[in-house]
Amino acid sequence: MWRRLASRRERNPGRRSPWWRRLIVGFGLLAVAGGAAFFLAWQPAIEPVSTPDRASFQPDQIRKGAALASAGFCSTCHTTDETKPFAGGYPLKTPFGTIYGTNITPDRDTGIGTWSLAAFRRSMREGIDRAGSHLYPAFPYTHFTQLTDGDIEALYAYLMTRDAVRAEAPEPDLPFPYSIRPLLAGWNLLFLRVGPLPAGDSGDPVLERGRYLSEALSHCSACHAPRNALRAERAELHFAGGMAEGWWSPPLDRSSPAPVPWTRETLFNYLHSWDSAHGGAAGPMKPVVAGLGRLPEADVRAIARYVAATMGLPAPDRPAPAEKPTDIAPARADEIHRRGAGIYRGACASCHESGGRVPFTVASLGQHTTLAGPLPDNVIRVILEGVHPPEGEVGAIMPGYAGVLDADQIADLLAYLRVRFTNAPAWPALKDDVRRIGAEEPKG
Ligand code: HEC
Ligand code: HEC
Ligand code: HEC
Repeated sequence: MWRRLASRRERNPGRRSPWWRRLIVGFGLLAVAGGAAFFLAWQPAIEPVSTPDRASFQPDQIRKGAALASAGFCSTCHTTDETKPFAGGYPLKTPFGTIYGTNITPDRDTGIGTWSLAAFRRSMREGIDRAGSHLYPAFPYTHFTQLTDGDIEALYAYLMTRDAVRAEAPEPDLPFPYSIRPLLAGWNLLFLRVGPLPAGDSGDPVLERGRYLSEALSHCSACHAPRNALRAERAELHFAGGMAEGWWSPPLDRSSPAPVPWTRETLFNYLHSWDSAHGGAAGPMKPVVAGLGRLPEADVRAIARYVAATMGLPAPDRPAPAEKPTDIAPARADEIHRRGAGIYRGACASCHESGGRVPFTVASLGQHTTLAGPLPDNVIRVILEGVHPPEGEVGAIMPGYAGVLDADQIADLLAYLRVRFTNAPAWPALKDDVRRIGAEEPKG
């Protein structure tokens, strides 16, 4: 083969193009490929419109949009100052850098006041703003694309009838090449399936409603699925658990390590407010429960129905709640982890061994999934920060122990809790984990 090539070259020495010609051809090809990519990425601007009048929307539609916005958690990422809802500026930290929720009030200069319904629909379905720029998928348009036209219209009606607030959201703080928005066209090509959620074939309208709300609107898997190196959700591990803002989001499929198996009823209780067998939501799951609170109760039941179906109902391999032992040989655990046991008895047992008498505590700490999970992060965060109800509301209260217990004490405590309340292997690097999380800048 090589000999043949070589001999052909010898025969036709003049046919070989000079290096500079090859260079030009090379650059030409690159330019064509680059041009094609940019052509693909290029999207037209949609003409600005005058802000639609409040009276042009039906009150019913605005009300429907309010519930959808609440259960789509729009304000979590688009509100920083409660007195200026949807005015943007909320920093979303990603492994690549920080992206800020934008102003989605109807302000004409800094918000979406000049956006037509068509422009809004395109942003929700394709992740492209009115001017034609690609939006970062930190904005969960990979889910919102599955919303029905009617629901997108209701969200538009709701947002366009909010108070306009003048506020410029900071530009994303991303290094090259992530700062180049047109590259997102390639990302979308790989990971975005544009268009409404395909109809399911379960024949169960409640389950299908739950699937629609969980997938298209409330984007549960945005936190509860692991992501690949390009930060796209791994479709094959849809509800297998993921990370959200430094919190572990437990699996919602059959791999759920919940010590007390979930049922439709307990899932509904948890998603609606609080469940006496599992407790309540902490961290980034808390605004989720608050957001679902504006949906009709039947919708939250539908979500619970869908999640219960993906987990599988209690079966022989998933014992029912009453059969689960919650406390594993306390005396032996005390012996192994004398220091941790002492701290637990002094600082925690008054509430967590009150037999549920202290409001919002469950019978045993062993019933919380977080103690049985692969990462200690949630428990560390709860111990450092405590649990606090939203201002002016009744809810669970636990004091934070940052500054009360030092990193070594917390690590001892966690090692003890793990042995005492679970059958899971010890967490490997507790001291480092406690120090790392303790060193983070405090939240807001
Ligand atoms: C997980 C956080 C998050 C949630 C939840 C979220 N957004 Fe966003 N959204 C963002 C971010 C971040 C951007 C800006 C992306 C960028 O700069 O490329 C954005 C951009 C947008 C834009 C484009 C605005 C512009 O000025 O270009 C619209 C419209 C929008 N979001 C609407 C919504 C609606 C409606 C909801 C609720 C149904 C919602 N978002 C929920 C994070 C979020
Ligand atoms: C913004 C990220 C985020 C979103 C969106 C989200 N979750 Fe969660 N979820 C979490 C985190 C973090 C936890 C762990 C909370 C804790 O430790 O108290 C959690 C916990 C849970 C639990 C408890 C699991 C267990 O075994 O203890 C359930 C059930 C749950 N989420 C269901 C849902 C459903 C259903 C949705 C969509 C309607 C959803 N989540 C959306 C982050 C999220
Ligand atoms: C004043 C009472 C009180 C004390 C003291 C207390 N807790 Fe709590 N703890 C609570 C309440 C209330 C909750 C909320 C339960 C829920 O989420 O439903 C909670 C929740 C938790 C959770 C579950 C968090 C999750 O993932 O959602 C863990 C773990 C926990 N506490 C551990 C501890 C440890 C360890 C100590 C001692 C250092 C401690 N608590 C001290 C009242 C207390």
